[in-house]
Amino acid sequence: MRYLFFLVLVLTSLATNAQPAKAALQQSITRGKIVYNQVCISCHQADGGGVPNMNPPLIKSKWVDGDKKVLINILLNGFSEKVAIDGDYYSNNMPAQSQLTDQQIADVLTYIRNSFENKASAILPQNVKTCRKK
Ligand code: HEC
Repeated sequence: MRYLFFLVLVLTSLATNAQPAKAALQQSITRGKIVYNQVCISCHQADGGGVPNMNPPLIKSKWVDGDKKVLINILLNGFSEKVAIDGDYYSNNMPAQSQLTDQQIADVLTYIRNSFENKASAILPQNVKTCRKK
């Protein structure tokens, strides 16, 4: 009986903790979409598909789903390395987006990591702050 009580206690605390986290993620994605539509959409397009030979897609991209620091640094410093992205090269350069706040960068990256067939963990403003300092 005592164990049952304990179990119920643990389960309710888990459930109440999970809800705010989920809501926070959803809010970050919603804010991130606004930033995306203002800043990124002209190059990467509404569906994240990019523009052939000019701007790479963000769909199932190893940069989008991959290491958070590498991804954050693409936004802070831009990206002009002529590396193949899924076997294709892109003539444009990606301009640095360091004018955005830590919150905006976290939100837009959380948005792209949860859109265009991507599914990856959220990026938090603290993560951006740490990268910006270096
Ligand atoms: C002026 C056009 C332009 C804008 C605006 C722009 N990008 Fe890019 N982006 C590029 C190009 C071009 C590359 C590839 C650069 C290269 O190959 O050297 C790139 C690369 C990337 C990459 C890594 C490669 C990939 O396909 O995954 C990510 C992630 C990315 N951009 C995200 C964003 C986000 C998020 C925004 C908005 C905050 C944004 N970009 C705004 C043009 C742009």
